[in-house]
Amino acid sequence: MSALLSVRGLTAGYGGPPIIEEVSFNVAPHEIAVILGPNGAGKSTVLKTIFALTTVLSGAIEFDGADIAGGKTSTLVTLGVSAVPQSRNVFRNLTVEENLDVGTYAAPPADKVATREKVLDLFPDLRAKLRQPAGELSGGQRQMVAIGRAMMCEPKLILLDEPTAGLSPAYLERIFDLLLDIRKTGMTILMVEQNARQALQIADKAHVLVNGRNFASGTGKELLADEDVRRSFLGGGGE
Ligand SMILES: Nc1ncnc2c1ncn2[C@@H]1O[C@H](COP(=O)(O)OP(=O)(O)O)[C@@H](O)[C@H]1O
Ligand SMILES: [Mg+2]
Repeated sequence: MSALLSVRGLTAGYGGPPIIEEVSFNVAPHEIAVILGPNGAGKSTVLKTIFALTTVLSGAIEFDGADIAGGKTSTLVTLGVSAVPQSRNVFRNLTVEENLDVGTYAAPPADKVATREKVLDLFPDLRAKLRQPAGELSGGQRQMVAIGRAMMCEPKLILLDEPTAGLSPAYLERIFDLLLDIRKTGMTILMVEQNARQALQIADKAHVLVNGRNFASGTGKELLADEDVRRSFLGGGGE
């Protein structure tokens, strides 16, 4: 199966020295791919680089057959890439409905109302809160608004940066279940997660980054069983 996203030898940064170096991985269509690694490893930088928010120094990024390295974020959105940043990812003063509609600004779906209905089918909690300012919702519900907004332009690939950060274990499970439902709709997910053990349980593929470089890659199952990965990132001990 050919990759939907292919990252090859990617070196990028913010204008100073490179933050990520020679990073390579593929994301197949309809998979949940997870990027793991310690704080400061460059995980967010990888997502930001795919979304054209950093400076690419060398390497290649291909999305759906198009060369996108060093392109523009607006082009990526029209090609079918959507991103949910790590924090401050909803407009607190806008209602839930308005937040969702912002997601259609750059790449309007053919039928906005039908798309909103499809998105809300995945997030039943949000239906009753459409007219409420997003700032009044719980952290978990706000995260759903942010993910829902990213889905409103019907992307092929969603980039998620720590979607469960700061959420209770119960909400973490809800969000992960939701990601499995989103995958069922045919979308592809690339996410950064701190909750490595749980993320590996839903990941089709995972890539561990250390110091801006590839450290290990494999299926969720393979990495859960990998001694080095377990010792360094999963707090030792097995299941
Ligand atoms: N906007 C920025 N400008 C300069 N350096 C940055 C910027 N954002 C992140 N960095 C640096 O890049 C490194 C990797 O950060 P990041 O990609 O956020 O790591 P992670 O998401 O794995 O915790 C850190 O050393 C951080 O200080
Ligand atoms: Mg980060």
